[in-house]
Amino acid sequence: MQHQLQELRTEALQKIQNCKSQAELLETEKAYLGKTGSLQEILKSVKDLSADKKPVIGKLSNEVKKELEAEIELQKQTLKKLEIEAKLNSEFLDVTLPGQKPEIGHLHLIPQTQKEVEEIFAELGFAVMDGPEVESEYYNFEALNIPDTHPARDMQDTFFLDNKLDDEHGRMVLRTHTSPVQIRSMLTHGAPLRIIAPGRVFRYEATDASHDAIFHQVEGLLIDENISLAHLKGVMAEFLTRLFGQKVKVRFRPGYFPFVEPGLELDFSCLLCNGGGCRVCKQSGWVEFMGAGMVHPNVLKAGGIDSEKYQGWAFGFGLTRLVMMKHKITDIRYLMNGDLRFINQF
Ligand code: DAH
Repeated sequence: MQHQLQELRTEALQKIQNCKSQAELLETEKAYLGKTGSLQEILKSVKDLSADKKPVIGKLSNEVKKELEAEIELQKQTLKKLEIEAKLNSEFLDVTLPGQKPEIGHLHLIPQTQKEVEEIFAELGFAVMDGPEVESEYYNFEALNIPDTHPARDMQDTFFLDNKLDDEHGRMVLRTHTSPVQIRSMLTHGAPLRIIAPGRVFRYEATDASHDAIFHQVEGLLIDENISLAHLKGVMAEFLTRLFGQKVKVRFRPGYFPFVEPGLELDFSCLLCNGGGCRVCKQSGWVEFMGAGMVHPNVLKAGGIDSEKYQGWAFGFGLTRLVMMKHKITDIRYLMNGDLRFINQF
């Protein structure tokens, strides 16, 4: 029996060492050490041996078992190492290859232009203010001298929200213009004041080539002592000249907005025909640009400013329209629909 065990040991060790894969190794392990394996068969017959042989054979079988187990573990590691080496040899990695260039995005045309506008006004001494897009009826209308029953409310179609801030401020609306920032700025900073407020506004209206329910505006407000419309004319002519990089003239026409008195419309000289008249300016030589006027005393009052001591002007223009004019974009819908074929041209 001793001899039999020695033979099994030699044979098994050799088989283990010859295994070429983990699967083959597992098979071999089963064949020798498994429940019905050869070593187990031998162990089963130990009980029939004589008392003096039993301990000798028992001890030897355990030694053989341990040795085979150790050899199997060793072969397992060896095979693993070989597998990794084979993988490394078959997969070549050239670390000197240039990396993949990441795509770098850029600002959309609207914020691009907004930034230009902000920079010019900042150079002229204006601070840039922000306000909420969801406003109260009070800031959007009442405080701007547009009372509930005033027909001027019909000028701006509004998205109303179901919730109410409180009784004083009324319902919540998606702001229809950036003018509420005038009130908020007056209340926080008082006079004198020199601000612009660019931002998104919302109107409940049908979309076509020149109207969208979402667009961008820039509000302006200057309040100080001894301020007149002459200052507005000077500031706007300078702003437009810097923005377009060519001499631009402006003119006033009478206009009506509840938050200003007198109210006016400002046009600038057509850049295409230099005032001579063309299709873009409908042969007038002028392009309609924005609403403006001297801030109404009621608005100053709502902003907590002494209208006896201070006065000022305000204006509001469509940033979206300005972008369209500057880049000769014929349909407003291109600007907000996120089509990369359009966006990547700028
Ligand atoms: N809020 C006006 C609108 O959206 C634009 C405007 C007109 C703003 C006259 C002003 C202003 O500040 O004085 O139609």
